[in-house]
Amino acid sequence: MLGIIGGSGLYSLENLTILKEIEINTPFGKPSSPIVIGKLEEKEVAFMSRHGKDHSLPPHLVPYRANFWAFKEVGVSRVLAISAVGGIKNTLRAGDFVIINDFLDFTKKRDNTYYEGKFSCRIEGKDKVSELLRNGKVVHVDVSDPYCPEMRKILKEVMTRLSIPYHYGGVYACTEGPRFESVAEIKMLKVLGADVVGMTGYPEVVLARELTMCYVSICVVANPAAGISGKKLTSEEVIEMMSLKEKEIGLIVREFVKLLPKSRSCSCKETLEGAEV
Ligand code: HPA
Repeated sequence: MLGIIGGSGLYSLENLTILKEIEINTPFGKPSSPIVIGKLEEKEVAFMSRHGKDHSLPPHLVPYRANFWAFKEVGVSRVLAISAVGGIKNTLRAGDFVIINDFLDFTKKRDNTYYEGKFSCRIEGKDKVSELLRNGKVVHVDVSDPYCPEMRKILKEVMTRLSIPYHYGGVYACTEGPRFESVAEIKMLKVLGADVVGMTGYPEVVLARELTMCYVSICVVANPAAGISGKKLTSEEVIEMMSLKEKEIGLIVREFVKLLPKSRSCSCKETLEGAEV
């Protein structure tokens, strides 16, 4: 099943026929919100609001591990994440869509792995992940191609079909937040190769990979990053842009669900092969 994560300003999905809402408790705590299972384009999908239904969770306190574990428990194998970002690259304008393909991690205090060796949660279950955790294995996953290449191509096709302009490829820098970045930090991130900046894309992408899920992210440039336009940054501006884009995001998600093939032909499901020590 496809899991969809709504970021800032996106707390529900248009056109979703809700079948049930599941409250889940995981070995990693409670997820950000109950998981809504519903039908979109005749297919079952699971929706979760990253910051909670009432946006009560700041980026550094989102229970990332619980969110992906909960997705795993309801049978999610692929995740489409929607995120607001600040634009760093010169060619990016507020309102642009970016299909990112790599990341830089500047977070500081987040649980960014399930695999804690002898300190891992002892989890029942016959699947490979549970077995690795139960046996206290140390696991290093490869992130050379962290955003599912198959899903990225589908997103590209979706944007083309809908005639929505987009940028294909981009490096996402994840900062700890909750404050916005300083001007000097943005200058630094630019030198290091970042195109956009956000506060939630990491560790999501890596946790998904550790669970052998496919993960793809469509980013909406909500504002030029700090110092670029010279204007003060506000949450208001971010939320406004996301609500301006809500219709388009709804169309993108629907078309994406339509085009997503039933089975996966990428190598994301083999992420754990050769990863354990
Ligand atoms: N920085 C970090 N996260 C963001 C921004 C930003 O400028 N805009 C939207 N999310």
